[in-house]
Amino acid sequence: MPLQALKPKSKLPAVGTTIFTVIGQLAARHDAINLSQGAPNFPCKPELIRYAHEAMLEGHNQYAPMAGVMALREAIAAKVETLYGHAYHPGDEVTVMASASEGLFSAVTALVHPGDEVIFFEPAFDSYAPMVELQGATPVPVKLSAPDFAIPWDEVRAKISPRTRMILINSPHNPTGKVLGDADIEALERLTAGTDIVILSDEVYEHVVFDGAPHHSMSRHPELAERSVVVASFGKTFHVTGWRVGYCLAPRALMDEIRKVHQFAVFSADTPMQYALAKLMETPADYLNLSGFYQKKRDLLVDALKDSRLKLLQSAGSFFMLAEYGHISGEADSAFVQRLIVEHGVATIPVSAFYRDGTDQRVIRLSFAKDDATLIAGAERLCQV
Ligand SMILES: Cc1ncc(COP(=O)(O)O)c(C=O)c1O
Repeated sequence: MPLQALKPKSKLPAVGTTIFTVIGQLAARHDAINLSQGAPNFPCKPELIRYAHEAMLEGHNQYAPMAGVMALREAIAAKVETLYGHAYHPGDEVTVMASASEGLFSAVTALVHPGDEVIFFEPAFDSYAPMVELQGATPVPVKLSAPDFAIPWDEVRAKISPRTRMILINSPHNPTGKVLGDADIEALERLTAGTDIVILSDEVYEHVVFDGAPHHSMSRHPELAERSVVVASFGKTFHVTGWRVGYCLAPRALMDEIRKVHQFAVFSADTPMQYALAKLMETPADYLNLSGFYQKKRDLLVDALKDSRLKLLQSAGSFFMLAEYGHISGEADSAFVQRLIVEHGVATIPVSAFYRDGTDQRVIRLSFAKDDATLIAGAERLCQV
């Protein structure tokens, strides 16, 4: 058979080049100031690199235990118990993952079966729906709308069916910067009580919650914790998104299944990075001060944009803030974003990219995970719009 005849049947036929790639390439071509990506453009603590280097020199260069280096699992369990009051067993209920992405993927692959339904909220992180489809299951979106993007719990209730296997939730939320409040937690408890629905809780921005509000980890709420898989990311917490280390927390019966997938997907996460992260976690100030660190950046960007015509929406957490522009231009958000790059030299993300049906509410996402000079320069350009 000639080689060109080898055309695999796609498991994800609707997935093409994403707007993120398009924006990234256009931004690079126009040398735009980049407020689009969630990755920090500033360095991690030098100690963290030193610890990783030391771990390599000490010979920690072979496979880590499948569930993670025990010192790191113990540090994670101790942190979670201190902050959220739930004691996960480091042996059975904590697994170090090769990124939060791998944690999410392993959890969905382990727990969602063909024909199941998974409720998730749009705008959504781009991997959620494809992960579900790869299991032969159906992603069931619940739409959040500008400007407040509150969760319509009545609609969630209406979408729960006997086939609902999982609710996938993300707080602090990318891209809206919303965080769950007490009423959301009560609604989630009420809707899931007496069901076998699993909550997959993407908490990668757990340490980035503003204005003194608490982070409502599922592990903080006993009834939710017993049906939840919590996913977290060291990349987001320690400014090392390229290291690809995160973790999952779950009751043992759920974790047993998740580990079966993790074991055969990657076996284990990077060894020297795990030693380095365990050592850094001995000084909790690094992550405990993260909300303050990012709140200053949020406030700097808000202040630098005070003369802009964009209408900023309040960010309560995460690396992101939304801005409405419908009163300035009737352009589609992707066209508006492309024009900002080409004419004004500043890159942002159109929020329609986070809806599978491209819902366009004339809103763009700005990332403030950038050094102050970049934030100020980006804001100056946005003030010209
Ligand atoms: C909401 C959300 N979940 C998960 C991830 C992925 O985290 P990681 O880099 O650890 O895979 C991101 C990264 O941007 C994110 O914004």
